Amino acid sequence: MGSVCLSGGGSLHGSVRVPGDKSISHRALLFGAIATGTTTIEGLLPAEDPLSTAACLRAMGVTISAIDSSGVVRVAGVGLDGLQEPAQVLDCGNSGTTMRLMLGLLAGRDGRHFVLDGDASLRRRPMARVAKPLAQMGAQINGRDGGNKAPLAIAGQVLSGGTVRTPVASAQVKSALLLAGLTASGSTTVIEPALSRDHSERMLRAFGAELISQPHAADGPTAVVQPGSELHGQHVVVPGDISSAAFWLIAALVVPGTELTIENVGINPTRTGILDVLEQMGAPLEVLNQRDVAGEPVADLRVRHSPLKAFEIGGDLIPRLVDEIPILSVAALCAEGTSVIRDAAELRVKETDRLAVMAKQLRAMGAELEETADGMVIPGGQRLKGAQVDSETDHRVAMSLAVAALIASGDTTIAQSEAAAVSYPSFWDELARLQRS
Ligand code: S3P
Repeated sequence: MGSVCLSGGGSLHGSVRVPGDKSISHRALLFGAIATGTTTIEGLLPAEDPLSTAACLRAMGVTISAIDSSGVVRVAGVGLDGLQEPAQVLDCGNSGTTMRLMLGLLAGRDGRHFVLDGDASLRRRPMARVAKPLAQMGAQINGRDGGNKAPLAIAGQVLSGGTVRTPVASAQVKSALLLAGLTASGSTTVIEPALSRDHSERMLRAFGAELISQPHAADGPTAVVQPGSELHGQHVVVPGDISSAAFWLIAALVVPGTELTIENVGINPTRTGILDVLEQMGAPLEVLNQRDVAGEPVADLRVRHSPLKAFEIGGDLIPRLVDEIPILSVAALCAEGTSVIRDAAELRVKETDRLAVMAKQLRAMGAELEETADGMVIPGGQRLKGAQVDSETDHRVAMSLAVAALIASGDTTIAQSEAAAVSYPSFWDELARLQRS
């Protein structure tokens, strides 16, 4: 296990191009696998989570070219129902997206059996939120804790569509149900309590699925998919991940003397909650070169160190920034006034309990903050001290603590820093480069 030692006091300068969006990368691989013909993917995130998705698909007979940072990835589609029963357990690693989307994809593969497993973190995460609504469609999924925890066994069945309400605003749950709906009998209507990221809807439509989104429907955000349409291989261009950009955005704002340009960032409105919070904080953010890339909006973001105001977040904003809350907790420490995070209990079932882990690790650096049942209350104007901290295996915690270390006095050692490779393998190298420039 590795650790990184960072010293506070320096500043960051230059431009950074964040790697491909993790959510879009998973979907490009999955939808390419069940399309007919070849899908080519530019900018696919070459990180551990998408590699888990690719490995599962390869085990079911899908040919996928090598995934590295050098070029285009090719996926040879096997068609809507062409996935073979794998000879081995499908290892989803640390990736909740892989496991949940696979559940939806595989539950309808009639006559085939699949076993999904993952690492210690993934084995602790709740899967009933997907398995239960899928069971409503006829899926047979069994596992520990009454079918809630991996390892999970799927006995593929013919599924029937219908109207399904998701228990949480989760794009993973919604996407699993839409994938199941592609081969169900009859149409599948998915209604969410609040709108989650809509990459699946956009990309499935681009691949040729008959899918309608009604984000403002009276009953709640709704997506309706009709079965039967073949998907056709596409050329997908993956924009940079705003969730990875978030570490640089906050670093630029809180580290004195810093100015950064972050290039090619996906700014899909279902993901830009962090930009709304930065506006609340009075951050000097410039959104440059707005453009559309393969159905997703993209821009360059420029930001520099500045005084910040405290923020309050909750409600429907949470799904739009759910992965950015750990780094926002670091920003809150530097703001003027007390910041409040509410309605974020979902963070307790991410790769770690991110409310508990961030509170514990930031306290080790001398921060004072209150952890609530569904959020945090964080007084601003605090000074951090270098300390021994630990990512506790969570990629977003590792990178959030890196930014905290930059504003601390003295040295900070971050244990299990290699966790960053789950979503951002080049993070530590990029940080070193921006510190030098
Ligand atoms: C993701 C959705 C989010 C997010 C995760 C990726 C996706 O999870 O936290 O990192 O790709 O659909 P939930 O949908 O469960 O909130």
